[in-house]
Amino acid sequence: MCGIVGYVGNRDCTEVLMEGLSRLEYRGYDSAGIAVFEDQAIRVAKSKGRLADLQEKMKTEGVPKGHAGIGHTRWATHGEPSDRNSHPHGGGSVTIVHNGIIENYKRLKEFLLSKGIRFESDTDTEVVAQLLDYYYQKTPGNPVDAIIRTMQQLEGSYALGIIFADFPDMVFALRKESPLIVGVGENESFIASDVTAILRYTRKYFLLEPDEIAVLSRRETKIYDLHYRRIEKELKTADWDVSAAEKCGYEHFMLKEIHEQPTAVRTTITPRITEGMPDLTECGITPERLAAFRRIHVVACGTAMHAGMVGKYIIEKLAHVPVNVDIASEFRYREPLVGKGDLVIIISQSGETADSLAAMRLAKELGAETLAIVNAKGSSIAREADMLIYTHAGPEIAVASTKAYMVQIAVMYLLAFELAFAKGTITEEECRRLTALLQEVPEQIASLLEHKEMTQMIASELITADSLLYIGRGLDYALSMEGSLKLKEISYIHSESYAAGELKHGTISLITENMPVIAVATQRHLFDKTISNIKEVKARGAKVILVCHEGYTPEKDVADFCFPLPDFEDLLMPMLAVVPLQLIAYYTAVHKGTDVDKPRNLAKSVTVE
Ligand code: G6P
Repeated sequence: MCGIVGYVGNRDCTEVLMEGLSRLEYRGYDSAGIAVFEDQAIRVAKSKGRLADLQEKMKTEGVPKGHAGIGHTRWATHGEPSDRNSHPHGGGSVTIVHNGIIENYKRLKEFLLSKGIRFESDTDTEVVAQLLDYYYQKTPGNPVDAIIRTMQQLEGSYALGIIFADFPDMVFALRKESPLIVGVGENESFIASDVTAILRYTRKYFLLEPDEIAVLSRRETKIYDLHYRRIEKELKTADWDVSAAEKCGYEHFMLKEIHEQPTAVRTTITPRITEGMPDLTECGITPERLAAFRRIHVVACGTAMHAGMVGKYIIEKLAHVPVNVDIASEFRYREPLVGKGDLVIIISQSGETADSLAAMRLAKELGAETLAIVNAKGSSIAREADMLIYTHAGPEIAVASTKAYMVQIAVMYLLAFELAFAKGTITEEECRRLTALLQEVPEQIASLLEHKEMTQMIASELITADSLLYIGRGLDYALSMEGSLKLKEISYIHSESYAAGELKHGTISLITENMPVIAVATQRHLFDKTISNIKEVKARGAKVILVCHEGYTPEKDVADFCFPLPDFEDLLMPMLAVVPLQLIAYYTAVHKGTDVDKPRNLAKSVTVE
């Protein structure tokens, strides 16, 4: 969602802001803008569309020149994407950029209108700018005081970057819910929605906590609380290097991230395996603690929720513990039957998804214990959970998640093995055998990635389809949900995933020769049943692409293409079968010429509900 960058130092500010914003493009946006102090006055440039549109506009209108300023990529919430609604927004002597939503903006706007203040945009952000200016005019020369007074009035989630016309060498920032970091360099300071935006200049940063205010100048950064008391914070060092946030020769981040999956799995599981057995003690998880839970709920959004679906199948199968999987935005409002003795697992790549965070807080209120599986270090979900397992996928830049999903399911396997052993539903020998097989998965994925041509060919067959169906049973059904989501996210082709056995209860009526079906059949005990379902769609004219174990040669009445997967343990097949599904989605999008890494309307980190 929206991205914020701010800078004060000796470099060309516009260059730093544009570079930083380009690193945040992955979050999803539909307009962009910057505000820079030029000769002590604030100059704003903003435009609907991509950063390239803003660059073009600046070519004709002039590039702001200065050494301090703020920048923004906007994902529209209040008011359509347009030049007028793009950030930065001004109110008198104040100019701001904003990430998040101000829930009480209507009431605040009415108040300001009653004071004779006029508005130029439809955004909630302009209300904040005007309110800041309103308070600033009451105590001119004291920006932090105006910020504190404004924060006391705001309801919602937000992070703000602010400049005051009276303070040309300073940038102010604050946050509540929406993340913000403060970067520290040699005689320069930065703010950013995440660390990837400033990695090129510095790896040192402070993580701003909710209700903290940062005051940045060239020489120093001061952080205050809401009582205007100075706070000393730990300076962190980002362990990602610049290449982690660059394409490194790949055409798209998504393709790069698909190729990073073997390493991501290895880095995630290796530290959690001791002498051949899963070991999650460094995450605060002991077998005894795990075994005490009577029920598990997995709560997440999007791809992370799909990782939870795979988790459900394997935990129930191995550990015999009931698992509910919930969409976070549903869970939080349906008065869930959750309480003491329950474990609520929150899965999130960003650790900032508003619904997932709210669901976790609700679960805690209800007395459940929470376990977060999170990729982004120091994120809100990571900090608030009772137990935490970090996935080590590194930064995921493409909006469509691939490597984060892969490591989320890798962690679900480790958890399932540990829980099943703790519960006594599998023997130590079986636990060791499965753990050893999990360690072989990275190699298997790497060899699959060497055979991309077939997925390219399959993709070229799909580009003319208006709609597609993914089918499977059991784990294959759980997995096909993710395959289907990948395809629609980036190729804009409608698709649904369906339990193969349920098709004939309605959905089969949609099948024609114009609706290709991708069937996943990796679970040997269900294979014949899935093949029967495939025959049913084939008989109705569908073109069928079958993903199954190698060695199976389909008859003409079963499939048109067959993507062979290595002969491997059924239980672990989702980690292999997802690879061709990711690649099919990727190449279909490439053939169609869509914006693969930044698909329309989508945001990487959804910090509003
Ligand atoms: C957005 C992203 C999805 C992601 C979902 C959950 O919709 O576009 O790729 O799966 O949010 O995000 P999280 O960061 O919580 O995993």
